Amino acid sequence: MEDDFLTNAQEQPDEQTLDVQLRPQTLGQYIGQDTIKESLLIFINAAKQRDEAMEHVLLSGPPGLGKTTLAHIIAKERGVNVRVTSGPAIERVGDLAAILTNLAPGDVLFIDEIHRLGKVIAECLYPAMEDYALDIILGKGPTAKTIRLDLPKFTLIGATTRMSLLAAPLRDRFGNHYHLEFYTPDHISQIIKRSASLLSVILPETAAYEIATRARATPRIANRLLKRVRDYAQVKNAGTITEENAIEALHALGIDDLGLDNLDRKILETIIQKFNGGPVGLGTIAASLSEDTETIEEVYEPFLMQKGFLQRTPRGRIATEQAYLHLGLEVPVMQKPMW
Ligand SMILES: Nc1ncnc2c1ncn2[C@@H]1O[C@H](COP(=O)(O)OP(=O)(O)OP(=O)(O)O)[C@@H](O)[C@H]1O
Ligand SMILES: [Mg+2]
Repeated sequence: MEDDFLTNAQEQPDEQTLDVQLRPQTLGQYIGQDTIKESLLIFINAAKQRDEAMEHVLLSGPPGLGKTTLAHIIAKERGVNVRVTSGPAIERVGDLAAILTNLAPGDVLFIDEIHRLGKVIAECLYPAMEDYALDIILGKGPTAKTIRLDLPKFTLIGATTRMSLLAAPLRDRFGNHYHLEFYTPDHISQIIKRSASLLSVILPETAAYEIATRARATPRIANRLLKRVRDYAQVKNAGTITEENAIEALHALGIDDLGLDNLDRKILETIIQKFNGGPVGLGTIAASLSEDTETIEEVYEPFLMQKGFLQRTPRGRIATEQAYLHLGLEVPVMQKPMW
């Protein structure tokens, strides 16, 4: 389905410019995640006062919630440079050594998708994080020598959408771990209004609210839907966005009133109609939809679970009673409450 990507929170190839354009630059501009912000403010100011490098920070949470944004903000608020790389991009120990030895004291090294870092590379990172040193082995066999390179005191910020795939020794070397939660409708609404003003779009409060309720509690999707609503209004209503044409635009995109898109509904329908409501394994669901298991697990399921439509059990996925009701299907007798 052409528009399935609309509510997929993962960054789409043509979207980087939008992400960068709308990205908040300071903690003050970063909306929501209040507990994390409060804690970060203390953490950053303490490091500033002591004039030390900040402790290493791990940011986890579903795609599109603002991990990369936050990593840049932390560096900016601390007043240091940030060097950006990602787990899969660091292929050899030499790549890591080159990056680390080029950092200035206090700098931030941001490693995105840190769960995809190779085992050997991760092991080199341990002494780097702990002792600011890198052990390099020169040569092979009995004549091999280890040399220890001293590194500047840097701050590693790691981001991951898959906490469970992160090796325990790596996880334990982060002094701070922040887990980003899905946003409240009110915070998403504020994000949409901020983005609208950055894009010079006039957006009535009611239209912002309609977009917010369908944005899967995710800023990236909120911004994407705003852009689509703007395009729709431009073609249909000379650029004026109203509550009505916002809703129309969202329906035209296949997004229902709770923000579910075609694939969400197909996932639930598959569990209900092909597998009697479950339990059914993730691999089986993915295979019957010809979709990728990772996308379903990382992007679709967290939202469906958050909405109370899906449960993960040791025996597989189950569609809840609410899922039947939302799809307008009859709830089987076994699933009805016992009163
Ligand atoms: N708290 C926020 N306030 C305002 N805008 C936000 C906030 N968080 C994220 N955004 C917007 O959402 C976009 C996506 O955020 P970001 O790229 O930081 O997500 P991410 O968690 O790194 O996603 P991924 O897991 O895909 O890398 C940003 O470009 C920014 O415009
Ligand atoms: Mg990111």
